[in-house]
Amino acid sequence: MNRRHFLATASATALLPIPSFAAQNTLRLKAEAVTQQILPQGDGATSMLGFNGSMPGPELRVRRGERVSIEVENGLKEGTAVHWHGIRLENQMDGVPMLTQDLINPADTKTYSFVPPDAGTYWYHSHYISHEQVARGMMGPLIVEDDLPPDVDRDITVLMSDWRLQEDGALSDEFTDMHSVAHGGYMGNFARAFLSQNEVKANDRVRLRLINGATNRIFPIAISGVNGSIVALDGMALAQPRSMEEIVLAPAQRADLIVDVSGPVGFNMMTRQGPYRLADLAVVGTNADRVASPIPALSQPDLPAPSEPTQHLTLTMMGGAMGGRHGGDNIWAFNNVSDLQPDPFGSFQRGETVRITMVNDTSFPHGIHLHGHHFFEVDGSGALGDIRDTTLVNAGESRDIICVFDNPGRWLLHCHMLSHAVGGMRTWVTVA
Ligand code: C2O
Ligand code: CU
Repeated sequence: MNRRHFLATASATALLPIPSFAAQNTLRLKAEAVTQQILPQGDGATSMLGFNGSMPGPELRVRRGERVSIEVENGLKEGTAVHWHGIRLENQMDGVPMLTQDLINPADTKTYSFVPPDAGTYWYHSHYISHEQVARGMMGPLIVEDDLPPDVDRDITVLMSDWRLQEDGALSDEFTDMHSVAHGGYMGNFARAFLSQNEVKANDRVRLRLINGATNRIFPIAISGVNGSIVALDGMALAQPRSMEEIVLAPAQRADLIVDVSGPVGFNMMTRQGPYRLADLAVVGTNADRVASPIPALSQPDLPAPSEPTQHLTLTMMGGAMGGRHGGDNIWAFNNVSDLQPDPFGSFQRGETVRITMVNDTSFPHGIHLHGHHFFEVDGSGALGDIRDTTLVNAGESRDIICVFDNPGRWLLHCHMLSHAVGGMRTWVTVA
């Protein structure tokens, strides 16, 4: 097997860090073609798409509760639209062509404006032919700063993805290769993480913001050289910090960790062949001022409290290869229906609490994302569990979620394995 078949690792090449904008109220993004060194230094660079000359796009930092305007200029040769993943924003700012806005045509600019209600780790990405535009690189971190940040020495974003590259670094363009679409989706043969800083000191306490920006790959992550806890999932603070032994991120999911640095830091994707290095953080010097203390919980989110559900819907994932029962007229479906239809999957009154049973009747895992809201996963004991915007449901399993639909508008509900979404696994709901 050639080393590109998932085995070269990204280690030890100091990359330029993800550029960052300090929190401000007006930000500018230009979608454009970029060239990025994805493969290790010395191998070919990759022509892709990005924002403001880089892939990933710059880290946008905004303040919780303050209106931000983001002017998106389209420097591409095709249309685009940008989705602010996980932000509970006004429907017309959600960035979904045909459902919430017209395409931004080449050379046009659209201003998105919203007030982010929740501090945390989010990201932005193209939502137009996203299985292709995101695979080409149209993504970046979106950080909503805490009113009262936790006591850490550094705050580092770790955006991971994978790419299907040829020997010379060129991106393969088999984005709709039907075999992939019917299986786990278009996946890369090379993965890495981009960091917003390249070094730490021994003994530093660091907040790590992990984002899975891959179009289809689930990342099981292990981090060497640190001890600490998970403090937030999908932007939402956990009530209690949690052990970080098992971090599994479906596409679009995020996890925030607070960790203490004990040695050189390595971010690893766990594979059957062993750890695959996604990125390194060099340790330079020692922080003598940091006194050991327990990992604190972050400030708790302010979400509407669920009441007794007034509707209980079932969303059954169907289709795909290997015995998935085929429903709908495309490769994938929900409840026998593929793609967006004129009628929504659910119609809710504003403020209504709804229970949705998500049944995975296929041979593949799916990460299901609801726009405009966060929801509770119902845990094994029937209690309200983690608050998420994307939930991973493994093959043959099911998961209930409870959501207070308090955000008016038309919202997508889709698999965030973007090959599955384009293959039909998407629908929408309406909140009046
Ligand atoms: Cu992250 Cu419909 O998107
Ligand atoms: Cu899927």
